[in-house]
Amino acid sequence: MNIGIAGTGYVGLVTGVCLAEVGHHVTCLDVSQEKIDMLKGGHSPIFEPGLDDMLQKNIREERLHFTTDRSEAYENKELIFIAVGTPEGENGKADLSYVKTAAREIAASITNDVVIVTKSTVPVGTNEMVEDTVKAHGSAYQVHAVSNPEFLREGNAIHDAFHGDRIVIGGNHQPAVEKVAELYAPFDIPIVRTDTKSAELIKYASNAFLATKISFINEIANICEITGANVEAVAQGMGLDKRIGTQFLKAGIGFGGSCFPKDTKALTSMSAEAGYEFRMLNAVLEVNELQHNKLMEKANEYSAIEKGTKAAVLGLAFKPNTDDTRDTPAIRIIEELQRQGADIVAYDPIATDKMKEVFPDLTYTNSLEEAVNGAETAFIITDWAQIKEQTPAFFTKHMKRPLIFDGRNCFDPGEMVSGGVHYHSIGRSGNSFRMTMST
Ligand code: UDX
Repeated sequence: MNIGIAGTGYVGLVTGVCLAEVGHHVTCLDVSQEKIDMLKGGHSPIFEPGLDDMLQKNIREERLHFTTDRSEAYENKELIFIAVGTPEGENGKADLSYVKTAAREIAASITNDVVIVTKSTVPVGTNEMVEDTVKAHGSAYQVHAVSNPEFLREGNAIHDAFHGDRIVIGGNHQPAVEKVAELYAPFDIPIVRTDTKSAELIKYASNAFLATKISFINEIANICEITGANVEAVAQGMGLDKRIGTQFLKAGIGFGGSCFPKDTKALTSMSAEAGYEFRMLNAVLEVNELQHNKLMEKANEYSAIEKGTKAAVLGLAFKPNTDDTRDTPAIRIIEELQRQGADIVAYDPIATDKMKEVFPDLTYTNSLEEAVNGAETAFIITDWAQIKEQTPAFFTKHMKRPLIFDGRNCFDPGEMVSGGVHYHSIGRSGNSFRMTMST
């Protein structure tokens, strides 16, 4: 099929590359000439394992094109995806200005009937608004909007695009829904067909539910610390119940990233606007905020930081395998360490450039050894493999004082303590994971 994509950010780019990979002809549009030039040269502006190779292959095989020219992206297309950003606006509400602009520009440029597919995460009613906007701009062609939310995880996006759990397609015009389903036929992923509004809500409900699981286990972790239980044993024991499941029960310093905080706030705000107070989600967000402070609370309890204390911040990305630092818990920790006058060295294998946009004057390194060398305290923010593969000896050898506050439970507490490290983690009160199972 002939496809145009409005917006070549994370969602638009991964969608475009994967659709080209299965044989469709895709033209990706973006306003940034710099980004388009980079992509035309086969280089992705985002870090995503496997993306560059697939990008280069599909450019070479002439199925994937990049442009800043709207006519090139929208003329003679069967399907046009909207994959522009919906950032957090006033009172946590999703800001739809980019979606509205895209709808107006599509109306002005199309040369035939078209199905508009909304990939961006948008509140209930947005697809209706997109259709109305196109009609209001006097387009002579028939346009149907279909909701098709994305569930890709950063760092696993290519894998998720080909092996996702489901594809959701929501529309009120059956032929338009079937057209989108046909597009995904090569993917071998179950397709859920539903109405537009339900599809729009499925995306928010899914992300909010996962965020709820995380805040729930983080509160259990806090109870574990008080009572002496081990949160990993509790999570494992809970998760074996198939109704609960083991995933998204990893306790830590809270969720970050471009989706969970923004989408949870947007659902809360959308509910409020509809006259309903989503009480539980307010608590999920509040718990996450408090959890971001956990490591510093522990450090303060042990009087770990004084003016001039050498502190290593290990991991800046909001999770491993991405250079994304949006809403990362590292921000709060660095701000607090700066306030207390610590001498900070921040380490991340790939996200230091992104973090420089937030803290331009911090000392950064891409070497873990350099970060811990001579440090008196280390804070682990991201569970990078490069950090998890270390032994207690690595820290005792390089640190001046091996005092570690681990926000991602990267190590076994028993091993760290017997290896001579003063080790504090989340929800484990110094206990190793104790659980055996027999059939
Ligand atoms: C998420 C959703 O998973 C994806 O389906 C959606 O489309 C976009 O948002 P992403 O933001 O890439 O994806 O990251 P994810 O792997 O879901 O993790 C989000 C945050 O939760 C990270 O900060 C991670 O560290 C944290 N997390 C995750 C936990 O603290 N504990 C867990 O058990 C799982």
